[in-house]
Amino acid sequence: MTLQFSLGSSLPDSGPTPCAVVGVFEHGVLTSAAARLDVACGGVVKRMVESGDITGKAGTAVILFAPVDAPAERVVVVGLGAQKGFDAQRYQKVCLEAARAVGRLPVESAVVHLAEIDVPGRDIAWRTRTAALAFDHAAYRYTATFKPKEAKKTPELSAVTITAEAAGERGLVEAAAIATGTRLARELGNLPPNICNPAYLADQAREFADRRVNVECEVLEREEMEKLGFGSLLAVARGSANAPKLIVLQYRGGAEGEKPYALVGKGITFDTGGISLKPGAGMEEMKFDMCGAAGVLGAFVATVELDLPVNLVCVVPAVENMPDGSAYRPGDVLTSLSGLTIEVLNTDAEGRLILCDALTYTGDRFDPAVIIDAATLTGACVVALGKHATGVMSKHDDLAAEIIAAGEASLDRGWRLPLWDEYQSGLESGFADVANIGGKFGGAITAGCFLARFTEGRRWAHLDIAGTAWDEGRKGLATGRPVPMLVQWLIHRAGQA
Ligand code: BES
Ligand code: MN
Ligand code: ZN
Repeated sequence: MTLQFSLGSSLPDSGPTPCAVVGVFEHGVLTSAAARLDVACGGVVKRMVESGDITGKAGTAVILFAPVDAPAERVVVVGLGAQKGFDAQRYQKVCLEAARAVGRLPVESAVVHLAEIDVPGRDIAWRTRTAALAFDHAAYRYTATFKPKEAKKTPELSAVTITAEAAGERGLVEAAAIATGTRLARELGNLPPNICNPAYLADQAREFADRRVNVECEVLEREEMEKLGFGSLLAVARGSANAPKLIVLQYRGGAEGEKPYALVGKGITFDTGGISLKPGAGMEEMKFDMCGAAGVLGAFVATVELDLPVNLVCVVPAVENMPDGSAYRPGDVLTSLSGLTIEVLNTDAEGRLILCDALTYTGDRFDPAVIIDAATLTGACVVALGKHATGVMSKHDDLAAEIIAAGEASLDRGWRLPLWDEYQSGLESGFADVANIGGKFGGAITAGCFLARFTEGRRWAHLDIAGTAWDEGRKGLATGRPVPMLVQWLIHRAGQA
């Protein structure tokens, strides 16, 4: 369950609440909400600024108890940093910091007075939406695989009111949908690979479709894929006791006969590397190798929640990559659904092998207006771009620009890498039409170039989310990216932004 979002009126008429959130810049510059709250609290905020208790440094949060007659029981004063240079990133960061502070308090609801802060180039709907999403992001807890705790006695945050004028309402509607999709993506990503296997992903998709009249779900089983000729996808699946699934979701929100948009997500529910086995250290992180699938499922759910007037299909190849006596091997030559043959040089480059068949299937069956795939495809992408930017690859400059703009708008940012033909030579094979790995350099790009061979003539873009889909470290959680980017792009395509 996401937080409940609502729109509220500004101070001093917004109360009563167990917790109000206001911002203060460095050098004692109070936002107008902070100034109004200060008056309502007998000047306590200003006194705390003068004493140095409140510095206004970005990302700091000071919590105080308000006087009994104030419009809030508690006040969280979040530092906004220097007023000069305040931008969208900083706005999001301070919202997250405020949300973390509120999350540590025994309160069930809070009123957030941050959306009225001026953010260059961002309107009130954006500020409202971004604040709401930050609070939902910070409120998410992964609990699925812990011993159930006895009913909690301390209250937990379940609702936030964002103060803004009526135009902020659209931001809350979008936030609720994006939060729902992002939570789904995060939860699927975080679940362990012994639970979240291909059958589990298929069940989740079916369950969602069952609840919606305008959503249909089909799941192709191994036998059907064999008949159709998914030789590349099925080779990857061979080493696993968990049968592969091809999940197909369709949403009809647009005109009858209008070409759909298509989202395709890499759903490797665990990537051992196969016979080209990965090193042991950190291998558990490869449970996140289905985050592309989770991301496109989340974006699909959000699109349906928003009732966007588009037709959308979502295709998820769900497969586990295991070493086994019947596993595929380096040297094998596979015949893909497209007919192109592939020489396997490394069984750890498996993502592209399931995606190529999924992309061929999606293109042939739906003739989509645009195909976008999302995949935790290469470690090389993390080397190139680090953990902040998703790698965006497309031969269509305008499509790449749209996606990058959607990333900027949603602060789920991407950066373009080229798919020039010069890189294709790295994929030459002496034994098949194409090899499944390139040379030493530009691994994110050669992976994209491999996929490009299966999307010829189609309007297609590839998102490498290997760096952005989950946070680093032993307790690192799935981020839910690229749900915000994809939904933003779809909102734009639907003509609603
Ligand atoms: N799932 C991995 C990519 C990956 C690695 C994502 C680390 C996030 C963090 C993918 O299947 C893979 O193993 N790619 C190989 C490709 C190589 C064999 C050409 C890689 O990146 O090392
Ligand atoms: Mn791999
Ligand atoms: Zn993988």
